[in-house]
Amino acid sequence: MEIIHVSAECYPVAKAGGLGDVVGALPKYQTSMGHSAKVVMPMYKTKFLYQHEWVIDFKGRTNLGDKWFEFTVIKEKHNTLGFDLYLIDINGLLDRESVYGYSDDTERFTSFQIAVINWMCSWQHKPDVIHCHDHHTGLIPFMVRYCYDYNKLADVPTVFTIHNAQYQGWMGWDKSSYIPRWDTWKRGLLEWGNSINPLASAVKNAWLVTTVSHSYLDELRENSNGLEALFEYEKGKCIGILNGIDADVWSPETDAYIDDHYTTKDVDKGKAANKAILCERFNLDPAKPLFIFIGRLVGEKAADVLPDAFLSALYNHPEEISILVLGSGDPHVEWQLSQLTNSFPGKYNTMIGYNEKLSHQMYAGADFLLMPSRVEPCGLNQMYSMQYGTVPVVRSTGGLKDTVVDMGDYQGWGIRFNHASVGDISYSIDRAIDLYYNKPEHLTWMRKRMMMIDNSWENAVQQYINAYSSLK
Ligand code: ADP
Ligand code: GLC
Repeated sequence: MEIIHVSAECYPVAKAGGLGDVVGALPKYQTSMGHSAKVVMPMYKTKFLYQHEWVIDFKGRTNLGDKWFEFTVIKEKHNTLGFDLYLIDINGLLDRESVYGYSDDTERFTSFQIAVINWMCSWQHKPDVIHCHDHHTGLIPFMVRYCYDYNKLADVPTVFTIHNAQYQGWMGWDKSSYIPRWDTWKRGLLEWGNSINPLASAVKNAWLVTTVSHSYLDELRENSNGLEALFEYEKGKCIGILNGIDADVWSPETDAYIDDHYTTKDVDKGKAANKAILCERFNLDPAKPLFIFIGRLVGEKAADVLPDAFLSALYNHPEEISILVLGSGDPHVEWQLSQLTNSFPGKYNTMIGYNEKLSHQMYAGADFLLMPSRVEPCGLNQMYSMQYGTVPVVRSTGGLKDTVVDMGDYQGWGIRFNHASVGDISYSIDRAIDLYYNKPEHLTWMRKRMMMIDNSWENAVQQYINAYSSLK
């Protein structure tokens, strides 16, 4: 099958979060299973761009409303990622340092989508499926159906995967002229509330909608930032497929970023060696259980609760705990977390920013990973931490609920709680401390148990292929 993935992120080309990881892995595994998976994404100014060789695939000219623009599609020459990678260059619009966060993101991603469709329309053949990811690509299912100039692609199945429904890409109706000559009787298929809503439009127009865990699929009908009724109405065409993790990138046995490699056989030793290096670097005591948080410091991840939760843990257990945080986001939370470093030297440390290498070292060296997320469609952090034998301490929501079983009955390998509150987090930290100091053999058993869980992509790939095939 020929599958075209359209996305704003793809690891290692450009990544802001889990979307990048998924779009960097899923096509690779689809290709290795005999399909032809291609990724098309914006050409940002990233290291990857300058370190690889490119050939020009297509040059086009089109318009966004009354503004004409030229675009170039370049293809990675040596296929180093295990799938065909295409970047769309639109001068001045896409070629920036960051993926998101610009005041003209609507113009950037709408132009990107228009360029992608123009490029596909230039082909002699049609792909088997166009697979779009998140709201930055959410207008494509509508445009291929109802823009007159794209009629050639109208019968190509579109699949839309929701990685996060909190962000929907809303745009005012004053921007409707951005969408090339379309059937205005279909206005309702672009709209939700009073604006154009690319995520809602994709849910209405895609042939199939998927999301990244079963629990999140259910939660979308109860809590999806205003789209609850839509998900209830469209539930017949929505399915959940849990993400996998890329074992080429995330394995304590081979990970190029970590200092000591290990397997289930020597997990305690391997983790202790990585922990010692990490603690030395961040001025922490390796004899104490090391708790980490890695992620975007935003409300969805309950980052606002973290400073008080850590303060309370450090206050209640002054001699029993080490904490290390890696993340960036809300400036106030960044400031609060950094202040804790001054208040608890030798016990707590923070690294504000994005650091891929350090994240690997933290998954390997930590004892516990905290994820109190209010919303977590799938969550990859907890899956990586499990792969590295680090006990996930998570709120029971979305993908966290589907991947972590509480240790309560002695069968599970994690710690779960219900509320993103200081009380629930503190209680969970107490349970973790008890496990670390009083039940070390059970902790070792849990590490081995979680490392044996199969979260590989093969299973998910087969589910995607079955789903695409059902659309024929
Ligand atoms: P989300 O996509 O909602 O941010 P996920 O759990 O799906 O959450 O994926 C987050 C990904 O981003 C993981 O690969 C995680 O290791 C990585 N990550 C998040 N914040 C940072 C950071 N500050 N530095 C390095 N990696 C990070
Ligand atoms: C989103 C979600 C996260 C998920 C990731 C990859 O960013 O917030 O839970 O793991 O996408 O699907």
